[in-house]
Amino acid sequence: MKRDFLSIKDLQLEEIEHIFSLTDELKAKVKDHSRSLSGKSLGLIFLKPSLRTRVSFEVGMNQLGGYALSLAAEDIKFGTREAAKDFGKVLSRYLDALVVRTFSHSEVEELADSSDIPVINGLTDLLHPCQALSDLYTIKEKKGNLDDIKLAFIGDGNNVAHSLLYGCAKLGVNLKIATPSKHKPDEEIFNHAKELAKSSGVEIILSDKPSSAAANADVIYTDVWASMGQEREYKKKVKDFKGFQVNQELLSLAKPDCLVMHCLPAHRGEEITDEVLDGAHSIVFDQAENRMHLQKAILLMLLGGY
Ligand code: CP
Ligand code: NVA
Repeated sequence: MKRDFLSIKDLQLEEIEHIFSLTDELKAKVKDHSRSLSGKSLGLIFLKPSLRTRVSFEVGMNQLGGYALSLAAEDIKFGTREAAKDFGKVLSRYLDALVVRTFSHSEVEELADSSDIPVINGLTDLLHPCQALSDLYTIKEKKGNLDDIKLAFIGDGNNVAHSLLYGCAKLGVNLKIATPSKHKPDEEIFNHAKELAKSSGVEIILSDKPSSAAANADVIYTDVWASMGQEREYKKKVKDFKGFQVNQELLSLAKPDCLVMHCLPAHRGEEITDEVLDGAHSIVFDQAENRMHLQKAILLMLLGGY
């Protein structure tokens, strides 16, 4: 049966560990897998802009010996020209897998339900699983392991925060999220993550105080205040997030070897200062690079039977 990757919540802990060890191998020996997905085709559909996700999937697929094909949103007119279920069935006859970036999460689910090929969530309004899984890999790579790690997410309770909630709960990473009270994460996802964290034995905490989240943190993570699709709310959100900037003062509350992460693109001078983004604690470009290595592992797992 085909397998999709729509959310970290659908992965077992052993599967995540397998993806991480495959990622280690792929990163160390790029050439060893240059024929692993030979003859396979990956379609990419992006209804929102993308730099990292698109390029890392395209190049990653090529490095595995496969072929990546971007489908321009204006050509395919996803959701308007034909029913999503017809769309999924047709593409299943040509392609071996699909990466999709949409607005509503249900669009990706509908496409996955109607396709006979694996569908990978390349970001929806609700979740960004490739990002969060790759970020947890990066933390493990930098720190050696994930034991006793305290991650502080400062900013909007958005798609990245939701996927970090699932990832931290599954992998056993303590997570403190600080958001303004109007911009908390989805309650159902938060409660589900808290439930999952009971098995991994870590704390998942929500507050409206960036300083309490940042205190003694091993990692400080932030993301834009207004996500793609929220352009009309931008001005209001900038006001709501006053005091939530990741700057030198906030960083000074964390552990001396604290890592600073951002999924990018960043709005420099808003959610994070230039000084911190470009500073010695920042690992944002290693973080961006690892997207490609980890997504190659996901492709090998879903398409290559690894
Ligand atoms: N971080 C991330 O997903 O970047 P893009 O939106 O550029 O793909
Ligand atoms: N939360 C951001 C992430 C971008 C990678 C957005 O959805 O725009």
